[in-house]
Amino acid sequence: MIQHDTKEFEGSVVLQRRDFSLGWVQCRGKEALPEMDQVIDAWENDRSIQLSGIVDTAAVSADIKQAHELMERVLESEGVVDFIEASPYVERLSALPLISVSGEEHDKQGIEKIYFDAESDGEVLAESLWCKASWLSFCDEDASMRFRFSFGMEGFEDVAADPLRQHWAGVLCDAIFPESRAITENEKLLGYLQAIFKSTPEFVERIVYFNAPNGGAQMHHDVERGHAGVVYAQMSGSTFWLALSKPKLMDELFSFVYDERYKDALHKVLPDSEDREKMLAIVSDRQALSDYMDEPDHELVEAVLDRSDAFIGYLVGRGYAHCLAAGDVLLMSQKNLETCVWHCVFCLGEEPGEGLSFAVRTQRKNK
Ligand SMILES: [Fe+2]
Repeated sequence: MIQHDTKEFEGSVVLQRRDFSLGWVQCRGKEALPEMDQVIDAWENDRSIQLSGIVDTAAVSADIKQAHELMERVLESEGVVDFIEASPYVERLSALPLISVSGEEHDKQGIEKIYFDAESDGEVLAESLWCKASWLSFCDEDASMRFRFSFGMEGFEDVAADPLRQHWAGVLCDAIFPESRAITENEKLLGYLQAIFKSTPEFVERIVYFNAPNGGAQMHHDVERGHAGVVYAQMSGSTFWLALSKPKLMDELFSFVYDERYKDALHKVLPDSEDREKMLAIVSDRQALSDYMDEPDHELVEAVLDRSDAFIGYLVGRGYAHCLAAGDVLLMSQKNLETCVWHCVFCLGEEPGEGLSFAVRTQRKNK
């Protein structure tokens, strides 16, 4: 049971992201693990589904601790490579020699990108794999960061076309963050995913997040060619999520902005009457709204989606919220731009938490 209010109430914690205060929430009670058919039905119908307590974080607690230490060192030094070249990482990376380091000067959020090859008996198996550390925002008061694992030319590579290098980028993630196995070797989780895909899933395009207080992610989707969806696992700390398919988000947005009870709330995030009229016109035309949401800059809608405490409260009331504690997983289908599950994240509490966000695809045979 999740409760939200625009004012503080007993037992609540603040929802704050990049200096925007978006109300207060209280998360109560633990959800039971859903039945297999409920999980399949949710995935097929593009509903997010929570698998509470499915990850045994105690079994990988030493690795989680080490990951937090790495994150803190990177925070202090704003570099990664010195730590990766030392124990225990250097031993774990014996089959993945470090090739070069980029300071990512062209990317204001980039901290450092480290390139590796995968080798066996002197033979190169996969080239130009990388781990890139980045800040999650430009806000000085947000210490959130992420480590992303991929390969080749960032933003240009068709990663889905090269399952071999995708596989090795996953192996690189395993070497630096071995707690990944709590997901990749999790029998219960694999059971659900096998039932969904009717084949063995592979975890690719991995991101290891540290969502810090005042950080998180705005409403977005993660559709990428070749990927079916995203598995997010909370390894430490806790997070608050809103997650709903794009068609449902458009329905809810329409209902909210045309509801007289939320007139003042709308005025609060869009004080300019011309902006409000433009936004109302876009929201009332379903195709225009869908196209607008797919544009990188969709500020008029973003004002409501990401900066309205009343809209967040409204979505919580409609049942689209999740509170994730350590050990909980959230599954979100990302089949295509039309039906994908959009989602936003807040850090709950005073401490940064580790989250594993892995894309899932069915396994290829040419490894
Ligand atoms: Fe995402």
